[in-house]
Amino acid sequence: KRHLLSAADLSRDDAELVLSTAAELRSLADRPIKKLPALRGRTVVNLFFEDSTRTRISFEAAAKRLSADVINFAAKGSSLSKGESLKDTALTLEAMGADAVVVRHGASGAPHRLAHSGWVRSSVVNAGDGTHEHPTQALLDAFTLWRHLGEEKRGGLEGRRVAIVGDVLHSRVARSNALLLKTLGAEVTLVGPPTLLPVGVEEWGVETSYDLDAVIPKVDAVMMLRVQRERMQGGFFPTPREYSRRYGLDGRRMATLQDHTIVMHPGPMVRGMEITADVADSDRSVIVEQVTNGVAVRMAVLYLLLGGSESESNE
Ligand code: CP
Repeated sequence: KRHLLSAADLSRDDAELVLSTAAELRSLADRPIKKLPALRGRTVVNLFFEDSTRTRISFEAAAKRLSADVINFAAKGSSLSKGESLKDTALTLEAMGADAVVVRHGASGAPHRLAHSGWVRSSVVNAGDGTHEHPTQALLDAFTLWRHLGEEKRGGLEGRRVAIVGDVLHSRVARSNALLLKTLGAEVTLVGPPTLLPVGVEEWGVETSYDLDAVIPKVDAVMMLRVQRERMQGGFFPTPREYSRRYGLDGRRMATLQDHTIVMHPGPMVRGMEITADVADSDRSVIVEQVTNGVAVRMAVLYLLLGGSESESNE
């Protein structure tokens, strides 16, 4: 494949190839010299129109560990403030010889526009588009689940149960995770208040519930979502206090989990809102490991998109 735009584009074989490649690459992190020459001479551009800590830095680390050259573009301080369009920005990158463009944008569908417009010849990787998708986050989450629950083998997530909790409505992470986990054979339950579950969410092929306490004792992983207040134009309902009481993961709720159940969060976290500090910092929490795994998974994605010869590429 030439682009990674949506978790829906990944077959089970595609996804498991990324996971097994990431497993090989993750072992690099334990070596004194962390670099491979695989992408020497290739250029990866991080094109971030929205803020990011984890995704941007881990794509940069991933590209550098594969010996690619990296150009970081952030909207702040760029000519976007002078009215430059996505098209002209893309043409500028093309003129500089980008082989891969990793794009985060506030508009859902912006990476698809970039990939299919003919403005760039490079591979396009969706690093989060509006409220739509964040496929590499789903891959790193699946990788983390696979390491903890799936014994790192093909089919390892079959029948595993995952609860994705909170502001599903505004979450590209939830959509990409639901799609990918389903592809990998896991059973997903989306939990949140009715106002924060999207209309038609059943079409994602998942269960839904408004009752966190009923769901979490049955699952193998609880994935908490950030409450995205910046995307709530019409105010926040329920109130923050009510939200935390009904949908926040605190020590009392954590005590109802099975012994092997892990707690995840894609970050950034709002401590005290969707997750309390004691839970985030507990032994069950794999939140920091998710970040580590993000580098290996993004190395795998860049390697699989760019590592083959030009003639092997196809759309
Ligand atoms: N999980 C995630 O996408 O984090 P950033 O917004 O910091 O990249």
